[in-house]
Amino acid sequence: MNRQLVSLAALAIIVIGGGLTVYALRQDTPAASDAANATDRPAAGAAMAEVRQAKLAGADILGETAFNAKCAACHGANAAGQNGVAPPLVHKIYEPGHHGDQAFFLAVENGARAHHWPFGNMPPVEGLTRSDVGNIIAYVRAIQRANGIE
Ligand code: HEC
Repeated sequence: MNRQLVSLAALAIIVIGGGLTVYALRQDTPAASDAANATDRPAAGAAMAEVRQAKLAGADILGETAFNAKCAACHGANAAGQNGVAPPLVHKIYEPGHHGDQAFFLAVENGARAHHWPFGNMPPVEGLTRSDVGNIIAYVRAIQRANGIE
């Protein structure tokens, strides 16, 4: 009787211990697979495009300051995008022939509905004059050209 109890307790310990081990291993699995995926796609918040710096002059420089103040929080430094937040504007989709300057003025004034990316809508951006936005466009076009997007 006593022996039976002892072996029952031993069995319970083995079963519970084994279960805990499996549970602990499973907890590790998602992190491990995330690490594996990290080589396939950029992590959240990471730049989405490799952007070559542009030589800036005149309006581009004013545009850079305004861009950094009003757009970079979402579109990232150098308009390289931020994964999970907003797309790179240095991207073929935004070349002048596809998203002309008017698309930029409209996006700033009215916001933009998510349609190219899974990042949600862009809200309207307050506090910029039309000439500020013109400078921002000049800046973005300068980086686009430096990266072969014309
Ligand atoms: C709160 C985040 C956020 C801010 C701030 C922001 N954007 Fe956007 N923007 C987005 C997202 C997200 C999209 C992608 C929408 C989509 O899926 O096509 C976008 C798209 C755009 C587009 C493409 C619009 C179209 O017609 O497809 C332009 C141009 C643009 N942004 C310019 C700007 C400029 C210029 C600024 C700064 C004045 C700015 N954005 C600030 C989030 C933002």
